[in-house]
Amino acid sequence: MTELPPALRAELVEVVGAPNLLTDADVVAGYAVDWTGRFTGTTPAVVRPASTDEVAGVVRACAAHGVAVVPQGGNTGLVGGSVPLEGEVVLSLTRLSSLDEVDRSAAQVTAGAGVTVASLQRAAGADDLAYGVDLASRDSATVGGTIATNAGGLRVLRYGDTRAQVVGVEAVLGDGSVVSHLAGLPRDNTGYHLPSLLAGSEGTLGVVTRARLRLVPATTERTVALLAFASTTDAVAAITPLRSSCATIEAIELFLPSGLALVCTVHDLALPFRTTAAHGAYLLVEAADRRDTTDDLASAVASLDGVLDVAVASDAMHRAALWAYRELHTEAINRVGTPHKLDVAVPLRVLAMYLDEVPAIVASIAPDARTWLFGHAADGNVHVNVTGVDPDDERVDEAVLRYTASFDGSISAEHGVGRAKARWLRMNRSEAELAAFRAIKRALDPHGIMNPGVLLAG
Ligand code: FAD
Ligand code: MLT
Ligand code: ZN
Repeated sequence: MTELPPALRAELVEVVGAPNLLTDADVVAGYAVDWTGRFTGTTPAVVRPASTDEVAGVVRACAAHGVAVVPQGGNTGLVGGSVPLEGEVVLSLTRLSSLDEVDRSAAQVTAGAGVTVASLQRAAGADDLAYGVDLASRDSATVGGTIATNAGGLRVLRYGDTRAQVVGVEAVLGDGSVVSHLAGLPRDNTGYHLPSLLAGSEGTLGVVTRARLRLVPATTERTVALLAFASTTDAVAAITPLRSSCATIEAIELFLPSGLALVCTVHDLALPFRTTAAHGAYLLVEAADRRDTTDDLASAVASLDGVLDVAVASDAMHRAALWAYRELHTEAINRVGTPHKLDVAVPLRVLAMYLDEVPAIVASIAPDARTWLFGHAADGNVHVNVTGVDPDDERVDEAVLRYTASFDGSISAEHGVGRAKARWLRMNRSEAELAAFRAIKRALDPHGIMNPGVLLAG
């Protein structure tokens, strides 16, 4: 669709006011391209509601006109799910930015869908609490988007994924009805758990407008160690002993020398070690507590086999410098070329082999491509990024995902299925499961207007 039907346009103006219905081609274009630049679409309009009622009004109007909608938060999603690839209307949720006072007695907070993860973290921190989810896109990624993708990030190891934080939700379903259950009682078995269902639903069932989120005790002391190993096998072998010998570990992240070199070149950083020639893989480990964690982490590292080099940081500046080597991978890879981003998980027992084999699988299909591997090692979550392949050429994607599924691995560990991987969902899900998914979709989105083509292909 290139233009809104006039009647729909009038209804949307009635709901959100003319300034919040954007139709200028130059303005809406910015909402139609994803963070990587791989997925670019068009839209006749971006609608910017500021309340649950307004979202409901927009969804009802679009449903009545049979017009499809793509919910959009910070637009940092990496699977093409947040942009209008088939001319859908974009429903931007960033104005849903209300953030209630932190409820200290419950250790919870109610946040609007448009609140960024960084704002949420700041609000929790001011009350000596913390939000368990953290990710490099924290300044843009929103509460609604992270729930819709069930974002993982850097602290799943300790606090679980986003789904584990959501204790209540308010949402507008695809039929325009509003469901709201925000009391956040720790014990509440009154039926189906809609927060769990909406977490990871990728905007295909409805629009999350507010959420009640669990907070955790703030940790005031942190230590980060960057460990160098000769091989992926040695690095992966260190994960289990690290976890079992240091209870305060919050993150165990992995990257490879090629990614480190790229990050240092693109971002003009010095290498973390004087020489890296013998290094085959790195683990970045963070421990956090309310007391100094340096000794805990040091003794855990001292008991490991195969550590060739260690860099340790306890103060904020040096910790950030070590984290930069890991967190800047995404940006650095995007500078090489438009990446195919395959976000997968495999059992730890095959992780080292997987990391060693994937580049060969890619090379067998696209000899000139480059494969970049990094990720959340403790969860077996690998980000397979491939540059040098045409954005529409999906042969590499299919081969890597098939290889992943051969180990009962997940083709979508944390970013969601989106449009990028919808056609391969059968690799992980049975016909019976897909039929159940479709039945849920029909029940909550009877007009089929919520993010069609995302998650469930066709
Ligand atoms: P968007 O990109 O706007 O949308 C994502 C999906 O959610 C779309 O399908 C959209 O339709 C839907 N959606 C958005 N808002 C709503 C809503 N209110 N109701 C219903 N559906 C909605 N992801 C991780 O999991 N872990 C990481 O460590 C991580 N690191 C990242 C680092 C960088 C530098 C970047 C660019 C991305 C990273 N991501 C990561 C991916 C991304 O940040 C997450 O997927 C995040 O959850 C998306 O949030 P968002 O607000 O930007 O959502
Ligand atoms: C990360 O872990 O850095 C993110 O998931 C982003 C990415 O995959 O590039
Ligand atoms: Zn990640």
